[in-house]
Amino acid sequence: MYLIAPSILSADFSRLAEAVAIAEQGQADMVHVDVMDGHFVPSLTFGEKLVSDLREKTSLPLNVHLMVDNPEKLIPGFLEAGADWLSFHLEVTPHAHRLLQLIKEAGRKAGLAINPATPIDLLSEVLEELDYVLVMTVNPGWGGQKFIPATRYKIKKLNQLIAERRLPILIAVDGGVKLDNLSTLFELGMNIAICGSSIYDAQNPVATIREMKMVARDFNQRIINGK
Ligand code: DX5
Ligand code: ZN
Repeated sequence: MYLIAPSILSADFSRLAEAVAIAEQGQADMVHVDVMDGHFVPSLTFGEKLVSDLREKTSLPLNVHLMVDNPEKLIPGFLEAGADWLSFHLEVTPHAHRLLQLIKEAGRKAGLAINPATPIDLLSEVLEELDYVLVMTVNPGWGGQKFIPATRYKIKKLNQLIAERRLPILIAVDGGVKLDNLSTLFELGMNIAICGSSIYDAQNPVATIREMKMVARDFNQRIINGK
């Protein structure tokens, strides 16, 4: 399954409903919402209220990425706000297993996010609990950074691990994803392309999402054709 998730971090924060409408017009598969706490990462962004307000405005699934310390304090609020997909960072909690279960018990998709320097081997014992892994391919905290080439190997290795264990886990890739590297990343095993600046800084964001969707559709078609 190959999906496109525009990240509204690169949109104009005073016009976020429009950013979501752009995702809808481009027929994106979900909207990525970056929550930053000013501790785990230096910037501050969105809280639960934005998620519940956007939940009212769109039928697209909201894919919420918590870049926060103490995620256990915030997860219940984001579940209540209507996050459909919810990930937190492995680096910040010794309670990953319990938190993943909490998200799944609420009937939402549970994900673990890992920084570029975090090895995928650390996911091994919780893999069965995951609906998706969010692989950071830039250091978390800002949009518009350059894709870190060494992370390609991690995506490939994670894809192999998931295939070996025959698990239905999706790989989301976050940071520096754009039209130029989309096919390569899908080939390496990415399922969900999270794209911020490459969409919202584009001349025509709707057209850019549509082009990305065409690439994703080609890859989906390959699966249907058994290639
Ligand atoms: C970065 C965020 C990303 C961000 C990616 O810390 O997690 O979701 O929006 O932005 P781009 O696509 O511009 O690298
Ligand atoms: Zn993100």
